Amino acid sequence: MTGMPPALELRGITKRFGSLVANDGVDLDVRVGEVHALLGENGAGKTTVMRIAYGLTQADAGQVLVEGRPLALRSPRDAIGAGIGMVTQHFALVGPMTVAENLALGRATSLRLDLDSARRRAVEAAERFEMRLNPDARIDDLSVGQRQRVEILKALSRDCRVLILDEPTAVLVPSEVDALFETLRSLIAGGLSVVFISHKLAEVRAISDRVSVMRRGRLVATVDGSSDERALASMMVGRPSFGVARGDTVAETAGEPVLRIHGLQASGTQGLPALNNLTLDVRGGEIVGVAGVSGNGQTELVDVLCGMRQPTGGTLHLGEQELTGANPTRMMAAGIGRIPEDRHASLVGDLSVAHNLVLEHLDDFRRGGQIDERRVREHAWELIERFDIRARAEDQVASLSGGNIQKVLLARVLSRDPRVVVVSQPTRGLDVGATEYVRRQLLERRQAGAAILLVSEDLDELMALCDRLVVLYEGRIVGAMSVADADVNELSMLMAGRGDAA
Ligand SMILES: Nc1ncnc2c1ncn2[C@@H]1O[C@H](COP(=O)(O)OP(=O)(O)O)[C@@H](O)[C@H]1O
Ligand SMILES: [Mg+2]
Repeated sequence: MTGMPPALELRGITKRFGSLVANDGVDLDVRVGEVHALLGENGAGKTTVMRIAYGLTQADAGQVLVEGRPLALRSPRDAIGAGIGMVTQHFALVGPMTVAENLALGRATSLRLDLDSARRRAVEAAERFEMRLNPDARIDDLSVGQRQRVEILKALSRDCRVLILDEPTAVLVPSEVDALFETLRSLIAGGLSVVFISHKLAEVRAISDRVSVMRRGRLVATVDGSSDERALASMMVGRPSFGVARGDTVAETAGEPVLRIHGLQASGTQGLPALNNLTLDVRGGEIVGVAGVSGNGQTELVDVLCGMRQPTGGTLHLGEQELTGANPTRMMAAGIGRIPEDRHASLVGDLSVAHNLVLEHLDDFRRGGQIDERRVREHAWELIERFDIRARAEDQVASLSGGNIQKVLLARVLSRDPRVVVVSQPTRGLDVGATEYVRRQLLERRQAGAAILLVSEDLDELMALCDRLVVLYEGRIVGAMSVADADVNELSMLMAGRGDAA
């Protein structure tokens, strides 16, 4: 292989946005026929550097080379011409058109589409790359996984030799991830090179030949794809990773049922039944995960548990106390803490950290009708310290990073020692450091005896944190299992509503 130039090479790529250095002298080489992962936390600069390689953004300095030849990249057209393809995070397909039509658009030199030959080429390409796709299906009727396949096919049908995929698994369920990986393996066997952008360690290790780690705009290291997970994590975050293993904090056997849900019914936003006879207990000292594709009743379940939605049937108890139909204030007073999916909606961005921390129990901070600002501030200082919030008490919440916003929410809820914690998508959009932090907090609450219901679409997260899982599909629990017995394939079948086929 000596003397063979890299399929794609970046030399000294630098890109600034104002005073922010998004890419700082990035050097990278992608070999022919490898899957090369680009791993890094949110904001590390991965998307930016690959947008430069694809001609979507212009670098301030540096060079992009394909098979040893430097490119002049003014637009994606130049990159495509040189054999580079990219599937960005937001697909660029035309929804009302068919697969064949979209593929034709991809290579059209004029607006006149030759649909017969487009259709023929679509069938050929799908066969050649062993991808199952109906050329006559409308994009709007396809699943996200299938649309992604069309995007990949579109790039391949333009003779790309280096395929860049930006966080391709973010939108996929586990079975689709497996299918994608299978596709990638057969493509590299045929000599294609793949750049696989991700911030998920496990999948990077599963698919990559080599991994380049980015941190704060720099390329920190390029290592073997089989490198140790902890080593990769510490390169990503710049310090040794503590790792969140369930084993770290295994509670003794869980206690009595604390949250008891029986035969719960509720309607959704359109008045359609959203929860269908749902029965579930969560005991003290355990985390029960609710798995499922969003839109299968998760929102309604959380809303009912927090008093934001009236159930149309069934009962809800906290210990012996009946709370069916109670309002949010009573739910909270009874000991149900809620960490919602939409962080921004439950904080007031224009208010300070200190005020947001007391928003839900302002009355505790009044003296003679007035808010005691000094106590509010002192309370904030204590929580800032205890929950490691990187902000000052007087800072506006809107100015904080996502990770710190989530810490403010956690502090507000967990500092009241709730007996039940209802938490949705707690790490979505957070970087590795903040994710680890949030998970640790939840495990500590569990250790302290709280009953935790965790709603998440992230199966890795559910497997890492939960003791038991239930799968929600069309408002019903279609499967329940301990995490020790959980099988990801079976779970994804259940999530897809194919429980009977498993
Ligand atoms: N068009 C832009 N304007 C200003 N800042 C940007 C722009 N694109 C990206 N950034 C910033 O550059 C940094 C790197 O972003 P990005 O490449 O998207 O990271 P990653 O893909 O690793 O999450 C981030 O701080 C991001 O906010
Ligand atoms: Mg990105």
